[in-house]
Amino acid sequence: MEHKLIAKESELPAVAQALIEAHPQERVFGFFGEMGTGKTTLIKEICRYLGVESDMTSPTFAIVNEYWTANGQPLYHFDFYRIDEPDDATRIGFQDYLYSGNYCFIEWTEKVESLLNGEYTPVNIERVDEETRMFTF
Ligand SMILES: Nc1ncnc2c1ncn2[C@@H]1O[C@H](COP(=O)(O)OP(=O)(O)OP(=O)(O)O)[C@@H](O)[C@H]1O
Ligand SMILES: [Mg+2]
Repeated sequence: MEHKLIAKESELPAVAQALIEAHPQERVFGFFGEMGTGKTTLIKEICRYLGVESDMTSPTFAIVNEYWTANGQPLYHFDFYRIDEPDDATRIGFQDYLYSGNYCFIEWTEKVESLLNGEYTPVNIERVDEETRMFTF
C-alpha cells in the first residue's frame, strides 16, 4: 500500500514512525527529492525514532555516517551527492553496508541505483510550500 503524508517539520516524528512501521522487514531506504526538500531532516528523525540519542552530524563532507542506537545497533546514513560514479560508492564498501542487515538510509539514491538491484524501499519527498512536504512511500 502506498502512503502519502503531508507534514510540517514538527510532524516528522509521525512520518518517521509511519515509514518504519509500514516496512518492518526492510532495512535499505532510498530517498529522492530535490536539494533542500528534507532528506537529511527526515533521516535524522527516523534515526531518532529507532533509538539514536547521540548528536547526528550531517554527512555534508562524509559519504557515510554511522550512528548507534542506545542498545548498540549501528545505522548508516549515506549522502552520494558528491560522487561521480557508482564505483566511488563501491570503494567505500557500500555493498558491505547494504548487506550488513543494519538500517541504511541513502540520500541521492539516483547516483547508486545501479548497485541496488531494486532491493530498497523508495521514499519520495516533494516540496508543497516553504514549511510543508509530501512524503510518498
Ligand atoms: N515539512 C518539512 N520537512 C522537512 N524539512 C522541512 C520541512 N519544512 C521545512 N523544512 C526545512 O527544509 C530544509 C531541508 O533541508 P535538508 O538538509 O533536510 O534537505 P536535503 O533534502 O537533505 O538537501 P540536500 O539535497 O542538500 O542534502 C531544512 O532547512 C528544514 O528545516
Ligand atoms: Mg541532505
